[in-house]
Amino acid sequence: MLNRLKEDIAAVFDRDPAVKSTLEVLTCYPGMRAIWIHRVSHRLYVANWPVVARMLSGVGRFLSGVEIHPGATIGRRFFIDHGMGIVIGETAIIGDDVTIYHGVTLGGTTWNKGKRHPTLEDGVVIGAGAKVLGPFTVGQGARIGSNSVVTKAVPPGATVTGIPGRVLVREVDDAREAMQSKHGFDMYGVTEEMPDPVARSIRALLDQTHAMESKMDAMGQQLCKLDPSFCDDKLPQLDSDAFSGMGDKG
Ligand SMILES: CC(C)(COP(=O)(O)OP(=O)(O)OC[C@H]1O[C@@H](n2cnc3c(N)ncnc32)[C@H](O)[C@@H]1OP(=O)(O)O)[C@@H](O)C(=O)NCCC(=O)NCCS
Repeated sequence: MLNRLKEDIAAVFDRDPAVKSTLEVLTCYPGMRAIWIHRVSHRLYVANWPVVARMLSGVGRFLSGVEIHPGATIGRRFFIDHGMGIVIGETAIIGDDVTIYHGVTLGGTTWNKGKRHPTLEDGVVIGAGAKVLGPFTVGQGARIGSNSVVTKAVPPGATVTGIPGRVLVREVDDAREAMQSKHGFDMYGVTEEMPDPVARSIRALLDQTHAMESKMDAMGQQLCKLDPSFCDDKLPQLDSDAFSGMGDKG
């Protein structure tokens, strides 16, 4: 119990540059009060004391402006910055190291019973005022922009902004695109936000190859001035067939 309290406090120091002291965390962070009260109310809920659990969560709401249904499952080092206007529904599941700001709703879009609220995997950050609505998963490390409205699953590591929420696609770097076409293959649709670790590795290799080729071109030009026969030796070209089927699954 004390360990959980200590790691909650450490999470505030990690994620709020404005914090000054442990005493401040214990007394001035409504989000902390909401989480600590939720831990007790969740236990009561699981122990089949749902009404008492709801009453206690109502006290938490009064003290923090954060309404967490006692049925919600919340992991470790959850940080609610500022509190106020936050609603977390009964069937929401929140992983470890998740951060949310004021005005966030983890809500449902149906009155049917059963899973109707989102699941947030570890390390998710949800900006102020964002609404995440429905029984889908927001993947590990994803970030939701402030005031976004998200109604569909979010891939791990993605950044989503806007209404409706869309994955932020960053512009493809011109130099990298030139390398891809030079080597005869196209990592179609692969962006900075794509979570595929193989694609990320290939992208890093392309950047490295581009830097090395630029350097070698400059060196080659100087060597050609000293010995023109040096320019007759061409570098071997990559075979584009070697990359065919890269995007295939299974
Ligand atoms: C979504 C977010 C995580 C993106 O951060 P980032 O990766 O640094 O992205 P950038 O700031 O480079 O912005 C990238 C693009 O998204 C846009 N964008 C960023 N946040 C946005 C938002 N909430 N809604 C709509 N568009 C947004 C930017 O204008 C920019 O557009 P452009 O490429 O056309 O210029 C961040 O903007 C955010 O909203 N964080 C939440 C912060 C918060 O709630 N703080 C409360 C503290 S009290």
